[in-house]
Amino acid sequence: MRTQVGVIGAGPAGLVLSHLLHLQGIESIIIERRSREYVEKRVRAGVLEQATVDLLCETGVGGRLMREGLSHHGIELRFEGEAHRIPLSDLTGGRAIWIYGQQEVIKDLVTARLAAGAEIHYEVSDASVERLDTERPVIGCTLDGKRVNIECDFIAGCDGFHGICRHAIPAGVLTTYDRDYPFGWVGILAAVAPSTDELIYAFTERGFALHSLRTPELSRLYVQCDHDDRIEDWPDDRIWDELHQRLKKSDGWTLKEGPILEKGITGMRSFVAEPMQYGRMFLAGDAAHIVPPTGAKGLNLAVRDVWHLAQALVRWYRARDDAALAGYSSACLRRVWRAQDFSYWMTSMLHRFPGDDSRVSYKLQLARLAYVVTSRAAATSLAENYVGFPIED
Ligand code: FAD
Ligand code: PHB
Repeated sequence: MRTQVGVIGAGPAGLVLSHLLHLQGIESIIIERRSREYVEKRVRAGVLEQATVDLLCETGVGGRLMREGLSHHGIELRFEGEAHRIPLSDLTGGRAIWIYGQQEVIKDLVTARLAAGAEIHYEVSDASVERLDTERPVIGCTLDGKRVNIECDFIAGCDGFHGICRHAIPAGVLTTYDRDYPFGWVGILAAVAPSTDELIYAFTERGFALHSLRTPELSRLYVQCDHDDRIEDWPDDRIWDELHQRLKKSDGWTLKEGPILEKGITGMRSFVAEPMQYGRMFLAGDAAHIVPPTGAKGLNLAVRDVWHLAQALVRWYRARDDAALAGYSSACLRRVWRAQDFSYWMTSMLHRFPGDDSRVSYKLQLARLAYVVTSRAAATSLAENYVGFPIED
């Protein structure tokens, strides 16, 4: 098999890249380890930045997002039983965020790619990448029980944090930066109308909680848990009980409960691999970097990476000009580190750190929150990072 760009992974990074390349007349083949059904059902991100939404709309895959997505112009910070609104749009010249599930973005992209005749191979096993430092890198994999080689001009490693591409880079090339947080999130999807119009980020002595949503009938909620907790430690009653306690408000507001459709535990980590390239292979999205989800940045960063990569590949195919490819990693990393800083800042402001039994940290976190909700300068800083920066910045 032969293609121009071989893409490993049919998550947001791989699918958006393949879509952008197709619009510029560049062909790609995507291979994905999981089934189509699995990838389209996996519940993950929900918050899209304005720039992500604009890109999806401008490239013809934003129709359903415009009809079914919910635009949000503010978020709430809740602490000591009080609500404080951060008016995102007022503070950022009208920019907003959109609530639209990652799996819906995936479905829209897969539909568009298949309608355009794309090759997406699901349930592929034993993927490998070879000859990365030559002009003909190769993806090897097992497809329908047969071993095949896909010869490429370039390989895009869009295979997420646990993929194979990053690990295929020879030792000594990458510098990695890694921080594991001493807590995680229990996340649920519940069949109940959201008890709020806007996302609530709550900080309490018991820890963090987040009230998010997917649709007018579906709520998405998270509670901070211990690092080593397993989902069996969190029966439904315990989850609701913690959510009630952490989201409590002094004015009698109540949280509505409903059947839990899905639940899982997410670890929290900050990770970056530099550079995001080796020879003719480019890493994009979670394959190269992970942020803790408190800033809602991961999917948005993945989309930004592949936007840069698509532009650089177009320049190469049009004029055999490799300057943009050579600058790919540094163009991405500038925004990656901005998002790392913001996500770390949000995480450390809103979570209880275990073992931290002096009461000082708690008081400092409250002081920081009080500052963010009373200073226009501080609130603007949160808002501009949360809604995100223009894609070409
Ligand atoms: P992935 O989505 O991980 O896709 C990689 C794909 O590669 C997968 O489909 C995988 O099966 C495939 N793959 C892996 N190995 C191989 C292999 N060997 N061969 C073939 N295929 C392979 N981000 C936000 O922006 N906003 C949010 O609100 C937000 N909330 C989140 C909440 C939670 C609970 C979690 C877990 C994440 C959240 N994120 C959020 C992060 C976001 O989901 C990720 O950053 C995003 O999925 C990254 O996309 P990706 O395409 O780089 O990687
Ligand atoms: C979500 O809706 O899944 C979500 C929202 C905000 C976050 C993280 C996840 O910061």
